[in-house]
Amino acid sequence: MVIKNSDGQTTTPSAVFIDPPNYVVGEVALQSTMTEPLRVVQFVKRFMGVPEHRVQVGDQSFSPEFISSIILRKIVQEAEEALGEHITQAVITVPAYFTETQRHATYEAGALAGLTVLRIISEPTAAALSYGISRRGRPRNILVYDLGGGTFDVTILAIDNDNLNVLAIGGDPHLGGKDFDDRIMNYIEDELREKFGYELEPDPSLEAELRLKAEAAKRQLTGRPSVPITFKAKRSLGNMDTYIPVRVELSREKFEEICNDLIARTELLLENVLLKANMGWEDISETLCVGGSSRMPMVREMLTRLSGRRPMLHDPDECVAKGAALQAALLVKDETVEEFGVGHVLAHSLGVATVKSEKTIIDHIIPALTPLPCSQTRGGYTTTFDGQEKVQVRIYEGESGDPQAYPTGPIGVFNLDTRPPRPAGKPNITVEFRCDENGRIIAVARDADTGRESRVMISLAGDRDDTQVEEEAFMLSQAIIS
Ligand SMILES: Nc1ncnc2c1ncn2[C@@H]1O[C@H](COP(=O)(O)OP(=O)(O)OP(=O)(O)O)[C@@H](O)[C@H]1O
Ligand SMILES: [Mg+2]
Repeated sequence: MVIKNSDGQTTTPSAVFIDPPNYVVGEVALQSTMTEPLRVVQFVKRFMGVPEHRVQVGDQSFSPEFISSIILRKIVQEAEEALGEHITQAVITVPAYFTETQRHATYEAGALAGLTVLRIISEPTAAALSYGISRRGRPRNILVYDLGGGTFDVTILAIDNDNLNVLAIGGDPHLGGKDFDDRIMNYIEDELREKFGYELEPDPSLEAELRLKAEAAKRQLTGRPSVPITFKAKRSLGNMDTYIPVRVELSREKFEEICNDLIARTELLLENVLLKANMGWEDISETLCVGGSSRMPMVREMLTRLSGRRPMLHDPDECVAKGAALQAALLVKDETVEEFGVGHVLAHSLGVATVKSEKTIIDHIIPALTPLPCSQTRGGYTTTFDGQEKVQVRIYEGESGDPQAYPTGPIGVFNLDTRPPRPAGKPNITVEFRCDENGRIIAVARDADTGRESRVMISLAGDRDDTQVEEEAFMLSQAIIS
């Protein structure tokens, strides 16, 4: 069952108005951007797991995990009111393309919100589960195209009578409806400049108003060939402010033209995923469009052109939530849901930095798309100079062999004691990775000769230390969330 929020909607925009200890979540926060733009935080999902990222509001700063936990609390609060029950456990969904660090940050947000996180699952998997569980049967492949508000995800899954398994994933965590809104905002500015010779003055309130209007226009263009965007632009004359009414007409054709490259980016990522799965369109039985932004006609036109068939717009707003609920029911063995296996995979390859021919490279130990849980050990690592007393193990998540290609660096670093001192190249060091079904990773390095061992749980390698976590837990306990 899908519960309506206090605004009577089944989805809640992840906007938070912040005025500690008061936090307002959802549509009301979104509307507050017009009057207090600097107190409203949006698109925090894009910053989950970004090291040291802080959201600045007034003279305070917040971690993305904290903002996320406020949103989670709000959702839990609404559900508790509707059900009259205390909620302690949750399945939380994330983009398939999320890294381990981002998944872990989400897990932390759940824990901070006082929830036992049963599982972190990928959104396209959840969508495919809600679609597929009642359409199980002959084995076939499903492609899920999920274009949301801030992220783009594409996944190919195999379904049969008993199981759903991920075959390939791709996407871009920085591509979503917001980028289409940005294009409309730029268009308005350009039109004003060109047609009226008018330069918009920097004004956060006006910018917020334009963002809301751009988003509304974009939605209307899904159903209409052309829409007007009207607002009052400020003009300062001496110390007098005057407001001039402005009207900019935007046609769907123009909108599609200014967003052409955004759609092309999703197309490229789509083709890439097919390539990774070693498939052509003829291998895909159903294409599911989910996420609010896949309502835009240009999305389905592109998919029709590529696949030669019209894709299905399947319950684009709710199917991810329904899939998460189904996954929770399967995990707690709720007998109203018939058993169905859902296979999760590692989203990105895992490797360690090592030196080969005097060059540092990333040696991948577990490849992306390995079914979870999994573990893998590789030996043959060693020291680089005589008498070296420790080696540093640096863990990387991603596909490139070049450490320079990882802008945020390793996802975990730890030392292994390599005493007693031995000649360079003598110790035989193995590295083992173990990943659980949430994709959480333990790395163990071992000196095969001395038996010494050292390990790190990547989930603990995050940058929020204990005092910060305690402080945030305290702030959350004081928070008045509405
Ligand atoms: N009719 C419509 N036409 C075009 N875009 C729409 C329409 N309805 C909703 N959207 C867009 O869909 C986006 C929200 O989609 P959705 O609710 O799937 O996002 P989300 O799941 O919150 O975000 P994400 O998946 O990126 O984390 C917004 O950018 C919104 O403007
Ligand atoms: Mg989504």
